[in-house]
Amino acid sequence: MPAQQEQNTTIVIFGASGDLTRTKLIPALYRLFIQQKLPPQFKIVGYARRPYSHDDFREQMLDGARKSLKDDYNDADWKRFREIMWYSRGDLATLEDFKSLESFLDELNPEGGNRLYYLATAPEYYGPVVDNLSEIHAVSSPDGWRRIVVEKPFGSDLKTATELDSRLHAAFSEDQVYRIDHYLGKETVQNILFFRFANAIFEPVWNRNYVDHVQITVAESVDIENRAGYYENAGILRDMFQNHMLQLLCLVTMEPPLSFNGESLRLEKSKVLRALRPASMGNTVRAQYEDYTSAPGVKPDSTTPTFGALKLYIDNWRWQDVPFYLRSGKALERKTSEIAVQFRRPPHSLFDLPKGKRLKPNILALCIQPDEGIHLRFETKVPNANDIQSVDMEFRYGSSFKNVELPDAYERLLLDALNGDNSLFISDREIALSWKFIDAINDGWRSGQAPPLVKYPRGSWGPTESDLLMEDDGRVWRMRCGQEPPV
Ligand code: BG6
Repeated sequence: MPAQQEQNTTIVIFGASGDLTRTKLIPALYRLFIQQKLPPQFKIVGYARRPYSHDDFREQMLDGARKSLKDDYNDADWKRFREIMWYSRGDLATLEDFKSLESFLDELNPEGGNRLYYLATAPEYYGPVVDNLSEIHAVSSPDGWRRIVVEKPFGSDLKTATELDSRLHAAFSEDQVYRIDHYLGKETVQNILFFRFANAIFEPVWNRNYVDHVQITVAESVDIENRAGYYENAGILRDMFQNHMLQLLCLVTMEPPLSFNGESLRLEKSKVLRALRPASMGNTVRAQYEDYTSAPGVKPDSTTPTFGALKLYIDNWRWQDVPFYLRSGKALERKTSEIAVQFRRPPHSLFDLPKGKRLKPNILALCIQPDEGIHLRFETKVPNANDIQSVDMEFRYGSSFKNVELPDAYERLLLDALNGDNSLFISDREIALSWKFIDAINDGWRSGQAPPLVKYPRGSWGPTESDLLMEDDGRVWRMRCGQEPPV
């Protein structure tokens, strides 16, 4: 076998005619290509049913990629890049077509090599593709490694996720499987771990003795767009909470891992998921934006929630009784993802403050997007007055790293998968634990034990019930209607 560096590597994208390939995967691969970060002799093979020639496929990819690439696109680079793209036509569930794919790959790389399979298909095809790859003996080889990237959604509940895992594990070992959560590929999300564990001053206060509560908001201004077919069955819990929201929660709350590698990180995250107290239905809010049911493809009496808010607890030594408030929704006021750690108020006020004024708690806000940065809010004396004011100490990516563009999550994740680093991918254990937690809420919502589905206006911060979830505890969301956004 040739040395690893000298071997060629091929990514085979199943579902190559879909949106994900055009708008995310190909642009990410192109950027990696121009930065010369791809392995030597790298090739891209698209696999789909459409009757494309290699050139048709390249043209199709150009159309989509150009929009996503904007200023990064240039004709000369694309000309070189298109030469590494190939197409193999086939059906995802037809074994014969996989045999043709295998012959094509052999022709392309007669000396063998590494292969990264990427499941960018509709989720119902994940199983058939895996079975077919196994059937044609393409899941391991003495000539190079074989890995498989599985897009979200990974199942739609614990049962389907376990079935998919069994199918994957019948063909691939766990260390060949890369389950994607693109939030983990975001720079700012990775920085949560650097912030917590590369600094000594935050960790001592990062626990129930100092933290009053944590709020995690992932708000989107877009609605379900043209995704009714998927969204009607998914809803906000499956679409955002089972994966992105719980992963953010894990990163903020996990214990320091033994080292910065996949095994240790994934283990610590799974301990958080295991310690999640089953959500009490009274601590959940589900809502739908007002004209959701008039969207094409949505049932007129649909009860699919497009917004969710939860109050959670983590039953472990560090976080006992600290509430975590999580909310996410579509068609909200603005796109923003933020984690705010609110500390306890000072135990006693020494100051003679103007009537009605109270010392405010310190807040550490980790802004994931769009205004990436970290802000620490604290109280300060107003000059020349016996008064206080909250001010922010700020770190903004835009000012501290002026000429550095934050890479797209897919660039990082594709590169990691090619390099065999699974630290930013989800393990089978995390998948199972997060579904177990989410299924219980979904069951409660379906069974009528939970508060009813409510409506919220487009462009708001969700229903009043979400505000009440906090206000009943004497707390408030940092971003809410009628409030200026925090600095
Ligand atoms: C996806 C969801 O996983 O994440 C979408 O399926 C959502 O519904 C998207 O819009 C949000 O991702 P980002 O990176 O835009 O915050």
